[in-house]
Amino acid sequence: MRSEIVVDPAPHPAWLPDGALAAVGRRRVGLRLPELSGPARDIPGADPDNSAEVASTLRAEVDRATTAHGGGVVDPDDSPDLLLTLNPDRHGFRFVRDGGRVTVAASTPTALLHGWFHVVRLGEAAFTGPDADERHSPAFALRVLDHWDNVDVHPVMGQVERGYSGGSIFYADGRVRDDLSRVTTYARLLAAVGIDRVCINNVNVHAREARLLTDDLPDVARVAAALRPYGVRTHLAVSFAAPMTLGGLPTSDPLDDDVRAWWRAAADRVWATIPDFGGFVVKADSEGQPGPFAYGRDHADGANLLAEAVAPHGGVVHWRAFVYDHTQDWRDRSTDRARAAHDHFAPLDGRFADNVVVQVKHGPMDFQTREPVSPVLAAMPAARLAIELQVTQEYTGQQRHACYLAPWWSENLGFRPWGGEGDDGRAVRDVVASGGIAAVSNVGDDRFWTGHPLAQANLYAFGRLAWDPTLDPATVLDEWVGLTFAGPDGAVHPRVREVLHAVLDDSWRTYEAYTAPLGVGFMVRPGHHYGPDVDGYEYTPWGTYHFADRDGIGVDRTRATGTGFTGQYPAPWRDVYEDLATCPDELLLFFHHVPYSHVLHSGVTVIQHLYDTHFAGVERVREMVAAWESLADLVPAAVPADVDARVRERLAEQLRSAVEWRDQIYTYFFRKSGIPDAHGRTIY
Ligand code: GCU
Repeated sequence: MRSEIVVDPAPHPAWLPDGALAAVGRRRVGLRLPELSGPARDIPGADPDNSAEVASTLRAEVDRATTAHGGGVVDPDDSPDLLLTLNPDRHGFRFVRDGGRVTVAASTPTALLHGWFHVVRLGEAAFTGPDADERHSPAFALRVLDHWDNVDVHPVMGQVERGYSGGSIFYADGRVRDDLSRVTTYARLLAAVGIDRVCINNVNVHAREARLLTDDLPDVARVAAALRPYGVRTHLAVSFAAPMTLGGLPTSDPLDDDVRAWWRAAADRVWATIPDFGGFVVKADSEGQPGPFAYGRDHADGANLLAEAVAPHGGVVHWRAFVYDHTQDWRDRSTDRARAAHDHFAPLDGRFADNVVVQVKHGPMDFQTREPVSPVLAAMPAARLAIELQVTQEYTGQQRHACYLAPWWSENLGFRPWGGEGDDGRAVRDVVASGGIAAVSNVGDDRFWTGHPLAQANLYAFGRLAWDPTLDPATVLDEWVGLTFAGPDGAVHPRVREVLHAVLDDSWRTYEAYTAPLGVGFMVRPGHHYGPDVDGYEYTPWGTYHFADRDGIGVDRTRATGTGFTGQYPAPWRDVYEDLATCPDELLLFFHHVPYSHVLHSGVTVIQHLYDTHFAGVERVREMVAAWESLADLVPAAVPADVDARVRERLAEQLRSAVEWRDQIYTYFFRKSGIPDAHGRTIY
């Protein structure tokens, strides 16, 4: 008889299984929260409108943990092991450990909730370490997850654009779900990593989704109500053409008075319905979305139009800099998609209203496995800039491949656009401090939230890096393992920890090794973007070319002979990237077209590197599979059977796909170049 895995229909607890709360739950916990009824404007510095709810959430969290694990809620004056207290004048939260007793103080219930989850994360160590007095506050004021969810199922993109985790948690059957309890569970997971803003619909705003701003506001208010208990605010992506498509106006010209009045009225209605609403996200003049160009206006005109409408409510506008010509003629060698965002936005610096955040993709192209950091991030000192990351693995294995992205994000956040010394040695994370960070969520209605259970680590890591971008990715992974695989007593089997590091720590570099080489990007299947297709995007209008011919490969983006993109960087990078002698190997083909025989800094030729890394990458995937399989004897005691089954299924696909990538890339470049592999492996 076939044995069947019994799948619990409840969503997987992700990083908050009951065991993760064992250490706090065993304690005597005191809460000092003023009685908050209704909007808590009486607490100085408190967030408007969600304080009372978040405070009761905190009470419920403490009850739940202590009931489950044998601790208790005690009088705050009765020497609790853990005291949670509101303290009007602090930003973030303060963590004090004094003789094994812990006090967490914060200015708002939401910050206090973040402090509570900080203690949860530390587990026993929260109470057993030496005395401490620490201040914790997020590095970025705005920390947003963008959902590319459609209300309707889009005929090509499905319900969640670039979603690999089932349907939307917000919408079903063409409308906002009746039961939004899962949204609250999601907000709880987000609060546990410090995320406090969510944009609930796709940046490509189709006709149905546009109406969230108007007819569907009561339903959006229900979503906001589901997120609010955990201190998470709601944002909407809006269409620049809304005054016409929804308002019946003849124009959407940002300088037209009727258009301005329409947006003001729209914003007034939103905030009247949802007082703690966050703001709007806009993709304009990009990949077919409407925008200010139609009226001869620029992106500052467009963004300021919306900024003016939301300003009276304290709202923000996230205006995306992902603007380029997606109808390029591949024969046109003068147009370079990598240049586009800087060309459009850098000249506008100084013109954006204070409540506009210009949201810049981390790289100049589009979430590829390897790209340089976008030069826009160094070109707009007067603007509030946010960096945009992609947690959903569109180009990094679509949650069928295990690919832990924190090391990649961490490199981007730590990049110093002016080199070590210039501009006071500031890094990207400093540049975006006031505008913050946003990322495309990888969550859907899949039981594991993220399709691949190990892709939960990416969502967790995004939240943690959004709070503290200096955290070490391996440490973040360790936290995630410690919480996610906590047994009922809070402990994790040491081999589980070891294996998850073995599988995930280097998985992004492994993915890079068996896919597109040396920063060249875009060798995926057009449309769905999964699996190899070396020339798939080569003769398309998307500006995504590698220019491989019989002699060489790569994009000449130098000032000397190419598109001049290197000139968009400040020193030293403009020169480092320009010169073959200094350009880092991993970005070589992003900046230069070189012969296959070009010798890398590593000492091997480009072609041999390409051959070797693809074989090595596949071997590393085999090791990942073997490492995971070594846990078999710990299933189900330390690894739940359903997690194990799903991970095995995904790893098998990752190996199949890695072999496919290897064989196609290897064969393609041998056929193209005619240069034999020094190791004479099988060519097809
Ligand atoms: C990528 C992605 C699109 C998305 C776009 C964006 O190009 O493939 O689905 O709409 O990014 O960021 O707007």
